[in-house]
Amino acid sequence: MARLLHPKGTEISFTLNNGVRMPALGLGTANPHPEIGRTKQAVKAAVKAGYRHIDTAWAYGSEPFVGEAIKELMEEGVIRREDIFITSKVWPVLWDDVERSLNESLESLGVDYIDLWLQHWPLCYVKQEDTHGINGLARNPETPNGEPYYEVDGDWLETYVQMEKIYLDPSDNRVRSIGVSNFPVQYLERTLFECAVKPAVNQVEMHPRLPQFELNKFCRAHNILLEAYSPLGSHNAPNVHLQLVQDLAEKYSMSPSGILNSYHIRQGNAVVSRSVNTMRIASNVEFAALTEEELDNLDQLGITKPKRFVNEKWNAVVPGFSGEGPAI
Ligand SMILES: NC(=O)c1ccc[n+]([C@@H]2O[C@H](COP(=O)([O-])OP(=O)(O)OC[C@H]3O[C@@H](n4cnc5c(N)ncnc54)[C@H](OP(=O)(O)O)[C@@H]3O)[C@@H](O)[C@H]2O)c1
Repeated sequence: MARLLHPKGTEISFTLNNGVRMPALGLGTANPHPEIGRTKQAVKAAVKAGYRHIDTAWAYGSEPFVGEAIKELMEEGVIRREDIFITSKVWPVLWDDVERSLNESLESLGVDYIDLWLQHWPLCYVKQEDTHGINGLARNPETPNGEPYYEVDGDWLETYVQMEKIYLDPSDNRVRSIGVSNFPVQYLERTLFECAVKPAVNQVEMHPRLPQFELNKFCRAHNILLEAYSPLGSHNAPNVHLQLVQDLAEKYSMSPSGILNSYHIRQGNAVVSRSVNTMRIASNVEFAALTEEELDNLDQLGITKPKRFVNEKWNAVVPGFSGEGPAI
């Protein structure tokens, strides 16, 4: 019964290093193509279940569905724009044209501003036309040999430098906060050294099998909020079947997904998990005040059985963001 005293994951929020409040738990919208059309009803169900944070990206192709949902929710009087925290991201094909990325995201979402705008990866891809791609560009460009097509002269920091100019322009109110995603420690160090604006957030794959000890320590020391993606282990949620997660779910009388999301929030990190299923969306908000010992036991899974689930060959050149582990 004690757990009834605890808030839901959606009722907890963190203050970013620029003072902006960010709800701790967000709904992810990287829905695979057959399900992408279900994003609209998922966002509507999530907001009605209490979510006030939606995670999307230029590259997901889900922004128009997120936008439709928000428009309808506003028309129905369920929320106002300022009630909902929207994250979007710049994909590496637009690494040197973040203005285009921002304009296309705002237009697809049908909003005037984004609450948190992230550099999706510290990578530079070649722009390759593709009518089936995102707004006419291939998401993952390939060389004639089928290899990832990187811009050899590109500097990944250029993206953040351009983002920071927009953020710092006092006459431009299109982004409330900027941050990064998939940045290992040494990439964060260079960003802090060369840029004026400290990233508010670093969004990375993180869960008990990938606890990201080094990034946790670094981000805490530098007041950068670490945010977990793929908390359930991505497609088909393999992490919900971990025995320890099942045992804790039984102990706290809640869903295994609630335990997996609580693992982050309890440590002071944000988390985004994805579902298009109304029942699961609702159960994913459950929060348990896991003990230090329980958190340590969950961390042990990342030491004994490390696993990275999001591991595309396009991203493998970022040190520490490919392979099975160990967790960085
Ligand atoms: N920055 C980046 O590079 C990056 C990379 C990956 C992800 N992300 C963000 O993080 C979000 C979450 O990560 P993710 O999409 O990889 O995966 P995830 O949230 O770890 O897992 C999603 C999978 O779990 C299933 N699921 C959801 N709730 C469940 C429950 N209660 N019980 C059983 N299964 C459940 C979903 O299926 P159903 O839909 O059928 O429920 C889906 O197959 C993304 O959507 C995206 O917004 C960011």
